Amino acid sequence: MSLSIIVLAAGKGSRMASSKPKVLHEVGNYPMLFHILDTVSSFKNSFVNIVISHSFLDYKDLIISKYNKVTFSIQSQQKGTADAVKSSLTNIKKNPTDYTIVLCGDTPLISKKTIEKSLNKLVKNNLDLCVISMKPENKKNSYGKLKFKENKLIGIIEQSEIKKQDHKDICNSGIMIFKTKRLIENLKLVNNNNRKKEYFLTDLVDIFYKQNFSIDHYVCNFNETLGVNNLIDLSRVNNEFQKIKRRSFLSKGVIMEAPDTVYFSYDTKIAKNVIIQPNVYFGPEVEIKDNVVLRSFSYLDNVKVSQNVLIGPYARIRDGVNIKKNSKIGNFVEIKKSNVDENVKISHLSYIGDSTINSFSNVGAGAITCNYDGKRKNKTIIGKNCFIGSNTSLVAPLKIKNGSIIGAGTVVNKDVPNETVVYRKSELIKKDKKK
Ligand code: UD1
Ligand code: MG
Repeated sequence: MSLSIIVLAAGKGSRMASSKPKVLHEVGNYPMLFHILDTVSSFKNSFVNIVISHSFLDYKDLIISKYNKVTFSIQSQQKGTADAVKSSLTNIKKNPTDYTIVLCGDTPLISKKTIEKSLNKLVKNNLDLCVISMKPENKKNSYGKLKFKENKLIGIIEQSEIKKQDHKDICNSGIMIFKTKRLIENLKLVNNNNRKKEYFLTDLVDIFYKQNFSIDHYVCNFNETLGVNNLIDLSRVNNEFQKIKRRSFLSKGVIMEAPDTVYFSYDTKIAKNVIIQPNVYFGPEVEIKDNVVLRSFSYLDNVKVSQNVLIGPYARIRDGVNIKKNSKIGNFVEIKKSNVDENVKISHLSYIGDSTINSFSNVGAGAITCNYDGKRKNKTIIGKNCFIGSNTSLVAPLKIKNGSIIGAGTVVNKDVPNETVVYRKSELIKKDKKK
């Protein structure tokens, strides 16, 4: 069985109030379009064609850098979903396939399982068209409504064409699967005789019905089909995405007292027996190994954390940090682009930037790496078994070799050899009695 997969992404997205193309708005810190492309790119014997507008051309390279096999079709004017599919026909005809799946780039949560089940229904029953449908929680919605006659699907009416609110339960998810041959033959029959003067792909249901073609629908879970037409929808989809992630982590042995307050990215990786306290945020590229404790209000992005590490509360760790096992990063500590080796303690109020801290070293409260000299970012290397006293300023570039001790409040701007003590003397001056 061969498949053409068309992803519609040329819509104006005017309801998003943003210059960024709608389908590149993010869910779980990942563009909606990428969610869909990840879902469909594992279908065997298939090719993916994305329908884009001229204004999307600037973003084409971004897509190709990640999905090098996808093809593009340009829809010159946004005249509706049927017109968008029409603009991809040249590419579809180049590789004639058995079936064509049309998906909307603004419906990112659809699962591969649902697409497979509806495709199976179409193949098993030799259908010409299978619509993926759903039952929205709220009957007042903007989705296209499925129309039935004697329990048989005969059409889809767009909300904009309904005179008064109609209480139809079953709506169109926006995803339709066709026999490719039927789609190609009938697309030209869609007209734009409607209020919006658009070519609706959904009109094909009525066109197929009138020719006695075999049509049906597959009802899936509504939450999978949440579509994004404005920023309120986007926050709702993000919310649903978080619920999916939380459920998945809880079922895999991640402990969360208040999961509703924890935010994950699309690629967050967390091993077993990890405790996440309330209000922790995971930006992209975070990987947490077993037995880590993340205390409240910590913010992590682009961080790898090994076993038995304690982080937070109120830690900010970002931009390429590796923390090795048994280390402790305490409250109000910020770490950026640094390597923290095993058994290191940075317990309170520090800034560590562009640094390497080797094993068994201790960084005292308020110690700061002064990594920026106004022009360049410079590196700090702290050896093994070092003790960095409280409130020290480590002026980079700087190397502090193994076993050295820096006394509290010292400004260190020279490299420190092994096993050396650097400290700032207290000056004791007698008071002048005459004054
Ligand atoms: C569409 C469906 C509706 C369904 C809903 C589900 C049609 C006519 N309506 O409505 O039945 O309930 O999705 O979310 O299909 N696009 C283009 N070119 C265009 C117009 C749209 O590429 O000229 C793309 C958009 O980028 C978007 C998708 O097609 O990814 C759907 O378009 P949108 O305008 O969001 O349609 P809805 O009103 O949501
Ligand atoms: Mg939409």
